[in-house]
Amino acid sequence: MTTKLQITTPDDWHLHLRDGPVMQSVLSYTSFWCKRAIVMPNLVPPVVTAAAAAAYRDRITDALEEGVDFTPLMTLYLTEQTNADDLAAAVKGGIATAVKLYPAGATTNSASGVKDINKVMPVLEVLAETGAPLLVHGEVSDPNIDIFDREAIFIERVLAPLHERLPQLKVVFEHITTRQAVEFVMAANDQIAATVTPHHLIINRNAYLAGGIKPHYYCLPVAKRETHRLALLDAVLAGTDKFFLGTDSAPHVDMAKLQPCGCAGIFNAPNTLACLAQLFDDAGCLDRLEGFTSVYGPQFYGLDVNTDKLTLVKHETPQPVPQPVQTTEGAITVFDPQMDVFWSVRPA
Ligand code: NCD
Ligand code: ZN
Repeated sequence: MTTKLQITTPDDWHLHLRDGPVMQSVLSYTSFWCKRAIVMPNLVPPVVTAAAAAAYRDRITDALEEGVDFTPLMTLYLTEQTNADDLAAAVKGGIATAVKLYPAGATTNSASGVKDINKVMPVLEVLAETGAPLLVHGEVSDPNIDIFDREAIFIERVLAPLHERLPQLKVVFEHITTRQAVEFVMAANDQIAATVTPHHLIINRNAYLAGGIKPHYYCLPVAKRETHRLALLDAVLAGTDKFFLGTDSAPHVDMAKLQPCGCAGIFNAPNTLACLAQLFDDAGCLDRLEGFTSVYGPQFYGLDVNTDKLTLVKHETPQPVPQPVQTTEGAITVFDPQMDVFWSVRPA
């Protein structure tokens, strides 16, 4: 007997689509289950101007297959040179939905990011007036700080003081990985929310460190110990509206990951929804899946919830992990959740 579940079509509030042939190859794995996605600006070179964001948006929509209804929501990459007027114009003109803060050196293509938050305070004040959110990669890049502590220290050093100084600034704390992040978001006012990835709800640091080094589970922020995963899972399964889905699907070809110095990023677009349905099902709260995937995100961004529906199907046997996606640059391995997943998205 198969079971079906219908939910409002989801959105992805944190996605790396890349560009060129790789974007062409990965885009449909998101557009087949998502209506909108917040597209990350960490291209090479980064998307720092409204013109670059509009051109990138057009390349994405041009790559969509005929008849596919998918809206890329663009982000601007904040630098210490960002001009407040340009940023306000991009947001008010509807080109940029949000602005992304990368601490310089914290992750893939973040070299042009922000070294000193004080330098961008005037721009953040203008951003606060527009009502558009600041999306934060919440890790310090200080080499003296242990990589497992970088998120917690970022809260102390950067995020909490920023929230105190500009409590009216909307902030999405992206891809949170720690109990401290959950607690910070819960305690903060309603201008603060967080995205959570499927992989950080499923794996802990054993996934990439135990039984051999496993580059396909390496992403930033790195998955932490089990107690942190459980804190994220509790927050999400409780149906708290401050936590919503951002896959952080971050495709890198296998050749770039399986290296002495491999890239950070997990490609999960093909099986995100199946994995999430399984997690909520296992916890006996499938009724809360839709809030996380389809309601709390638009609510926080001040956008309408999608009106169409998507059907998930529960099979009698576990479904295989999707095959690697082939691109002209090489194969991209899909996230293996290392658990039985009986769910799949019913093709439209
Ligand atoms: C992302 C990427 O590859 O662009 N990598 C990752 O591990 N998540 C960058 C990011 O979101 O940190
Ligand atoms: Zn990301």
